[in-house]
Amino acid sequence: MNLHDARRRRRLSWEQAKRDLGYRDGDPLNLGRLCADRHVDEGRGERVALIHEDHEGQVRRYTFRDLMELSNGWARFLSDQASVCQLDRVCLFLDRTPELYAAFLGILKTGAIAEPLFPVFGEDALTARMLDSGAAAVITSRRHLGKLRRTRSRLPDLRTVVVVDAEPGGQGLRQGEMAFRMEDHRDARFSAAATHAESPSVLHYTSGTTGAPKGALHVHGSVFAQYLTSKVVLDIRDDDVYWCTADPGWVTGTSYGIIGPWSLGATQVVLDGGFSSERWYGTIERHRVSVWYTAPTAIRMLMKDGLDPVRRRDLSSLRHACSVGEPLNPEAVRWGREAFGLWFHDTFWQTETGAIVVTNLPGMPVKPGSMGRPFPAVEAAIVEPGTGVPIAEAGRVGLLAIRPPWPSLMRAYWNNTAAYYGKFLNGWYVSGDRASVDDDGYFWFCGRDDDVINTAGHLVGPFEVESALLEHPAVAESAAIGKPDPVSLEVVKAFVALRPGFEASEELELDIMNFVRKRLSPLAMPQEIAFVDRLPKTGSGKILRRMLRARELGQSAGDLSTMDGG
Ligand code: PRX
Repeated sequence: MNLHDARRRRRLSWEQAKRDLGYRDGDPLNLGRLCADRHVDEGRGERVALIHEDHEGQVRRYTFRDLMELSNGWARFLSDQASVCQLDRVCLFLDRTPELYAAFLGILKTGAIAEPLFPVFGEDALTARMLDSGAAAVITSRRHLGKLRRTRSRLPDLRTVVVVDAEPGGQGLRQGEMAFRMEDHRDARFSAAATHAESPSVLHYTSGTTGAPKGALHVHGSVFAQYLTSKVVLDIRDDDVYWCTADPGWVTGTSYGIIGPWSLGATQVVLDGGFSSERWYGTIERHRVSVWYTAPTAIRMLMKDGLDPVRRRDLSSLRHACSVGEPLNPEAVRWGREAFGLWFHDTFWQTETGAIVVTNLPGMPVKPGSMGRPFPAVEAAIVEPGTGVPIAEAGRVGLLAIRPPWPSLMRAYWNNTAAYYGKFLNGWYVSGDRASVDDDGYFWFCGRDDDVINTAGHLVGPFEVESALLEHPAVAESAAIGKPDPVSLEVVKAFVALRPGFEASEELELDIMNFVRKRLSPLAMPQEIAFVDRLPKTGSGKILRRMLRARELGQSAGDLSTMDGG
């Protein structure tokens, strides 16, 4: 069926997802059960859910029955032995191991809230997120235990650290740390908590311009949006092998790396390990990947390695490809055509929206450089900043806005009601991205309306970087901006004024870079540091990041007068 067909677009609604999933309003709903047990109950238990390839290339396969039993084991252990209660926040601080995926579902089965954390986070990044959420437990591996131990004294609510690969008998563990070997704890039955569509499920932290990162809280009913968009946008079908390249530390890796595909009962590939074009093409070839969801930075990195590595492989299994997280440049779309004979379909959404809201549907003509059109069950518009009044005129830039409610819209920012309500204006959820719409209803991304840095599809808050910089003994003042980068879209650039007694040098620059990398993450590490005497500020002492950015882009001071909020 051609989804571009107008009748079909009109008919698509979240109700269809509910019908497909056999859900009636008011029914109990538990994401852990829905993504695993339901498939066993409905006779699909022996279907492969997860093809897992570890960093050494070893492949293991898990069926939906395995997922059910392993997540039951997690749920029983967490509630009976780790004293996890409903609505407790349980962090996942793991590489992309099978434990991460089964534990995510197990946490949801207990009625607790899963809080995935990116495994490269350093101590400050971890502390900020776990302190704000008041996390009661964290699941980790020996590799990451040291970082957690160093944060523990700052986390009064943290009761239990679960280690998935501890020595037999838990040797070497300290008080408050527990060993849990997943494979020893399969359980055929666990009666999942009686959660419903509005029960909290997942807490994802995301960076803003000001203040610490904010926790976007989602509910079990988000699945109606993730299910329908996985089916219609990603076009995942029964016989597909699907590969989402994102880590569950970021929302793409949970909404479309766990919930979406497994709510459909699809087989998905997970690759634990870093990027290399050889390894990525090998993954597609070896596992006959047919649907691929990735990001523009990854595509640009593949482009850099040229067509030869593509030609050496049989990638004929690929049928559909999508992209998310940053603007997908027209060259990348054209290269995708040449390399794989496929259009990369751009999709737009955010941690807060929980699921794709603007997109190129399969079968719809792609305009390279455009994000596509609103998903058929979604109402989107470009609105005036300040008033939230929709702009009718094609081509005029305003703020991209979505009409609430929809199933996967966040229900709160954890501990931050004011910031949550600040996202709504004149009956719209306002994304904070600038965009325009053309005569055919296609949306075009122009840029963010704030100072958040988008590096390789990951948002980095300048405030978090600046706070980390200020902890360095040599730093008196700091500012962080996004500097345009041909591969990663932007990289972090820092401006630093030194304390008396410190001299700018290459060694000091490296030392400060490493300091931020360790405390926050490699993504947040400045790739460049400019030592300055002082930083430009407003009368009230606020650092003018936009002036620094304008200078960086070679714009004149005159251009600044046209910059909003400067
Ligand atoms: O600025 C937009 C950019 O990424 C932001 C959302 O980031 P995050 O909450 O981390 O979620 C990323 C994965 C959904 C947006 O506000 N962004 C996302 N998709 C696109 C995009 N920018 C341009 N084009 C896109 N397709």
